[in-house]
Amino acid sequence: MVAKNHKIQILADAEAMSKAAAEVIVEHSRETLQTRDVYSIALSGGSTPRRLHALLAGDAVFRDQISWERVHFFWGDERHVPPDHPDSNYRMADATLLSKVPIPEVNIHRIRAEEPDANQAAADYEQEIRQFFKIDAEQIPHFDCALLGMGLDGHTASLFPGTAALEETRRLVVANWVEKFQSYRITLTFPVFNHAERIIFIISGQEKAKILKSVLTPRQESASYPIQLIRPERGQSLWLVDTSAAGQLTLDD
Ligand code: 6PG
Repeated sequence: MVAKNHKIQILADAEAMSKAAAEVIVEHSRETLQTRDVYSIALSGGSTPRRLHALLAGDAVFRDQISWERVHFFWGDERHVPPDHPDSNYRMADATLLSKVPIPEVNIHRIRAEEPDANQAAADYEQEIRQFFKIDAEQIPHFDCALLGMGLDGHTASLFPGTAALEETRRLVVANWVEKFQSYRITLTFPVFNHAERIIFIISGQEKAKILKSVLTPRQESASYPIQLIRPERGQSLWLVDTSAAGQLTLDD
């Protein structure tokens, strides 16, 4: 069901998975910056990216290979909270990565989720993305890389099952009401992710084994889970999964 140009790599554990993700990002950014001035990457929220961030920031093997001054950071999604709130994806990335590396402030494009009107925050972020990529109202940006996780309900970024954002085909960023949180999430949309050059899924933990099996071996043609609709049109998607999360996969999956 997942994209034809996808690859699944099973790593021993969460540490090995994070290391593999760091290697891919270092290699892909170096490759891209040979022909382009800047490298654009959309970070994921949640807890899984923490170790990856710590490796990129703290391990010289990775940190010293990245041209930080040419990397521009964006977010795939954000909770509707201020940047100093414990739930803030920006706060997590700042604490585990951005505050520890020589990245110019202007290269950090955070979602201004402190904006009380979530729709306004989404519209502002869409504007910022269009300005950065120098694209008009009809065009879709081409991120070099997007990092994505997966929730137990098969959501990714803040594209949750049964939510309005799943239907969005025109806007780049939307405020998505998530009933179970009684809150909005600000999220990039499928058109943006499916225009990315490289999608890297990072998925770890035994608790995700059942949903990962369902996602990768669907019983029906149509997508049952939002993450199954991440199908980069011309890019590649790489699933970096640890053995715990891959526990229910079989070789033919
Ligand atoms: C968020 C994320 C979300 C996350 C998954 C997995 O803002 O929460 O973007 O999509 O990737 O919920 O979260 P964990 O990594 O914590 O399991």
